[in-house]
Amino acid sequence: MALPPNFLEELRARTPLAPLIQRKTRLTKSGRNWKGCCPFHGEKTPSFYVYDDHFHCFGCGAHGDAISFVMRAEGQGFPEAVERLAAEAGMQVPQATPEAAARERRARDLYGVLEAAEAAFRRRLRLPEGAQALAYLKRRGLSDDTIAGFGLGWSGGGRGVLAAELKAEGISPGQLAEAGLVREREDGEGFSDLYFNRVIFPIRDRRGRVISFGGRILGEGQPKYVNGPETSLFSKRRNLYGLDLAREGAFRGAPVVVVEGYMDVIALHQAGFTGAVAPLGTALTAEQMEELWRLTPEPVLCFDGDAAGGRAAAKAAEAALPLLTTERSLKLATLPAGEDPDTLVTRSGPAGFTAVLDGARPLSEALYALLTEGRPATTPEQRAALRNRLAAVANAIPDKSLAAEYRRSLLDRFFASTRAQPGGRGAQNGGMGRKPMPAPRARPAITRERTRTEQASTLMALTLRHPWLLGEVEECFAAVDLGDPVLGRCRDAVLAWLAEGHELDSTRLMDQLAGRGMAELATGLLRGAGVPEAASVDAQPKDALDAWWHFYGLLRGRAELEEDQAREGRAWVEATDPVAQARAQQRIIRLTMLLEAQHRGEMAEDAAGAAGLQDEQAMGGH
Ligand code: UTP
Ligand code: MN
Repeated sequence: MALPPNFLEELRARTPLAPLIQRKTRLTKSGRNWKGCCPFHGEKTPSFYVYDDHFHCFGCGAHGDAISFVMRAEGQGFPEAVERLAAEAGMQVPQATPEAAARERRARDLYGVLEAAEAAFRRRLRLPEGAQALAYLKRRGLSDDTIAGFGLGWSGGGRGVLAAELKAEGISPGQLAEAGLVREREDGEGFSDLYFNRVIFPIRDRRGRVISFGGRILGEGQPKYVNGPETSLFSKRRNLYGLDLAREGAFRGAPVVVVEGYMDVIALHQAGFTGAVAPLGTALTAEQMEELWRLTPEPVLCFDGDAAGGRAAAKAAEAALPLLTTERSLKLATLPAGEDPDTLVTRSGPAGFTAVLDGARPLSEALYALLTEGRPATTPEQRAALRNRLAAVANAIPDKSLAAEYRRSLLDRFFASTRAQPGGRGAQNGGMGRKPMPAPRARPAITRERTRTEQASTLMALTLRHPWLLGEVEECFAAVDLGDPVLGRCRDAVLAWLAEGHELDSTRLMDQLAGRGMAELATGLLRGAGVPEAASVDAQPKDALDAWWHFYGLLRGRAELEEDQAREGRAWVEATDPVAQARAQQRIIRLTMLLEAQHRGEMAEDAAGAAGLQDEQAMGGH
């Protein structure tokens, strides 16, 4: 069957191997790969390994990719296997025509053409005509090994010298045009060279085959780089410079790092960062991110320290959101202003770049700063716009629980930024034609912090004892700032458990937390001295709910409650099923009551009444 050269490549890229094989045999994670019992020979101990793009059985020697797996496992021929996988990947198999067959033959030949060109360029670098280029590369700190490893070359002076040289190998100008090395002249008089008087950077695909070239001018001049055009072998959005080498590097444990330029990749590899890659003169695409995630769950994207770098990072982060899963994320690293990775390692050695990598932050942490940079939201309109934007950004993540986590973390930061604004809350209270509320008694911050932790602990205890509450309070539970990282982790575990759809039973939940090493924390929360009656096993459901909302009200500021109310108003309008709508309504009532209580001043920070405390002293005290 004659298929266009890129088709099978893309089909393989779009067919994750492990899930396909999972249908035939159970696989378990083994490092970054998978293993299981071989589906092709009877065995009881697993010797069948699945890698990112192939499988291998150390028992019977079975070996292949997604297509050959389907052929063997289903007893199908190549065309049927391709047809089936293409249907699953949502791709159309191109018609097998004589033209297509000719195209495939040409594509196979095209790799040969590019290889011949690469060899010619490399040769020229070592001739007298390439001496200047070689000196330039040496001056930029590249060793002979590096120059050879990346296959760097010299274009020659153009005017058809490449065509003349390759003619001897039976390569026609038409083939050079198809390979993107020359282009047809506008006056129709033959072809002109794309690369002349330039240092040549061969661009390879993930398997190391040359698919195009970049060319750099010696020293200053415009354009600094020329890049090959899109051809049947070369797609800018699907390939990454250095990927063939970075696969090897990542396999040996090097961090996978995305930088901007060819020279950055080369300098980093030479300095020992063998997982470095770069996009091909454009912003990072979804296809390129997919490639990176085949190497590592958390590649590092490296950006300039200036404003443009920040914008590029924000753009990349937003583009990544719809692709995130619990197993696929990003880290973001920032370069010192005015440096690129090449200048950095040339000047400061590997340590300079190690420091940049050490400063890399997970996307979830970096996102808020990226989204707000240079735009301090101060007016209500700006703040509401920012909130909407944060919510929209989190909603771009398809995994529901992950989206909820991002939403929570972004809103936590949003509210933290409000709290940090001096006088922010007081001004809001005073703005309604009423006498300003008396300023809260100044207390040492540490005591305040501790009270807050106690309130948050009580909220958690109520939730652990009565997980059924989550049916009503999940959104609020996810959003509230608990103030204590240990409680935060506990909440994460509760929400993860909730997302799995279990029966909402306290004993099961406690088992789950125990399984995550939180047994002591969870039982401690339930037995704590200040735990209200409402958190006991035989509390009335109504009391439990009242108490939960009460403590929620203590933890939540006025502006936050108003935000809650607005959100629930939207949820109520948008709800399509009656249960969800009733719950939203329930929450609106609760939130309204809490806001009214705050108006009346009942939520002053020391008030711990109302909720039937076993021991009020204990709550208010230590
Ligand atoms: P830079 O201008 O940052 O260049 O472009 P660089 O990589 O630091 O190059 P040196 O160190 O001056 O040699 C970053 C990348 O953008 C693309 C290239 O891929 C380059 O590596 N680029 C840049 C172009 O495609 N064309 C250009 O004219 C300039
Ligand atoms: Mn540079």
